[in-house]
Amino acid sequence: MIDLDRRQFLRTAGAASAWLAALPHLSLAQTAQRQTPGAAASPGFTPDLDIELAATPGETAIFPGAPTQVWQFRGRVLTGASAGFEMLPGGMLPIIRVHRGQKLRVRFINDLPEESIVHWHGLHVPQSMDGHPRHAIGPGQRFVYEFKVDNRAGTYWFHPHPHGRTGAQVYGGLAGLFQVSDDEERAAGLPAGEFDIPWVIQDRVFNNANQLVYLQNMMQRMNGFLGNRVLVNGQLDFTQSVATTAYRVRLLNGSNARIYRLARDDGRPLTVIGNDGGLLERPLERPFVTLAPAERVELWLDFSDRSVGDRLTLRSLPFRAGGGMGMMGGGAGSGEFPVLRVRVDRKITKRHVLPARLSTITAYRPEDAVNYAAPRRFHLQMGMGRAAINGRSFEMMAATPHETVRLGTQEIWEFANDGGMMTMPHPLHVHNLQFQVLARRGDPRIVSAGGDLAAGSIDAGWKDVVLVMPGEHVRVMMRFSDHTGLYLYHCHILEHEDMGMMRNYRVVA
Ligand code: C2O
Ligand code: CU
Ligand code: CU
Repeated sequence: MIDLDRRQFLRTAGAASAWLAALPHLSLAQTAQRQTPGAAASPGFTPDLDIELAATPGETAIFPGAPTQVWQFRGRVLTGASAGFEMLPGGMLPIIRVHRGQKLRVRFINDLPEESIVHWHGLHVPQSMDGHPRHAIGPGQRFVYEFKVDNRAGTYWFHPHPHGRTGAQVYGGLAGLFQVSDDEERAAGLPAGEFDIPWVIQDRVFNNANQLVYLQNMMQRMNGFLGNRVLVNGQLDFTQSVATTAYRVRLLNGSNARIYRLARDDGRPLTVIGNDGGLLERPLERPFVTLAPAERVELWLDFSDRSVGDRLTLRSLPFRAGGGMGMMGGGAGSGEFPVLRVRVDRKITKRHVLPARLSTITAYRPEDAVNYAAPRRFHLQMGMGRAAINGRSFEMMAATPHETVRLGTQEIWEFANDGGMMTMPHPLHVHNLQFQVLARRGDPRIVSAGGDLAAGSIDAGWKDVVLVMPGEHVRVMMRFSDHTGLYLYHCHILEHEDMGMMRNYRVVA
């Protein structure tokens, strides 16, 4: 409730308060509308795509019998290409599609019984458009997003970000893909249309009445909530039908806390062509791929040498994630299970050729960082009922000097997972930018316990989430450009985020 009060205070504070008293004929609501980011569509902004997006209670058929009560996004295109907003079969997974440089307006309607706000994960947008929890709106309220899409082509996503309730709202069903295309990607000539498919992986627990079960106790909160059923694109026992050709597959780990170690069951390697911030420079082959919460990976899956009737299973391999030295060591470990199946069900002659070169990525030079000599270090800390970074849990409006950076500069940040009481991996996410992973180092005795995971992380290219293994220090480099203001960085295990393993950083001019 404190946050709600603060929000309302902010909404009416500032310039408005002085002349509010002088102009009693203006209602508070009208005044607030003019002062608040997101309160109304601006007449001067001409969107290429204008959509309405509501977060609302609903239900979906996951099992035979009783439908499952969920929270879901519903949307429609008001202006622009109809492909700009699409709902996948099952009605649980929306996809927004835009081309780089296009102007987007999203009229968000909160039809939930609690406050919410939508965050565009991975996008580079002004602070007021980022879906920070300080901008959360109450039930029945609206927030109008307007921004120019300025990210390279890639698979981004969106989800709610209200303070303390992100985990519950995402778990309830609120997540969508945000696909950006650009000219460089087009030139790569990758499979498109029906040969470009999304797989959003999430895990859930259901009770006997087919209803979602979320956090039952503090240990689940501290470990991160793990489900015992896997959904892909909102469906159980998901099977993808494919033709005898190659596909571009975009995977998002939309789970609250589960890490997947993905591999094919036919012994062939996975061909990785992209990750969080779009296409890699060139394809990589890996025996398995680690996908931590909020991470994306794009695969090239070629069925052109297969016959109709052939099957393939994507499995998650077992791993141990903790060092086993803390009281909760291994808490995020996992056994083996199938994630989804692919069935070749038709023969076509269309051929797709995997490009040797996918995109151009200019590597950051560490010596260009203003803090090259002394990178900022951030200790990720999980204790009994409390999560923090450098000893501080989330504070709505605060950023310390250590969390203040200069616009136009490049910096190296080091995320340190020194374990302490809880030894578990933390997928660290930074808002507003894509970074490059420079280095991982750590105590080999501790890191090796999670080595089966670390070896599968795709650190190449542009990233906005990096999995930091127990005992590991991971250095990333980033540039703060275009926008000043307050942005978040946090662990993307949503229970950790909600417990306070999240902080603001401030970009100052
Ligand atoms: Cu997926 Cu704070 O974000
Ligand atoms: Cu984000
Ligand atoms: Cu965490």
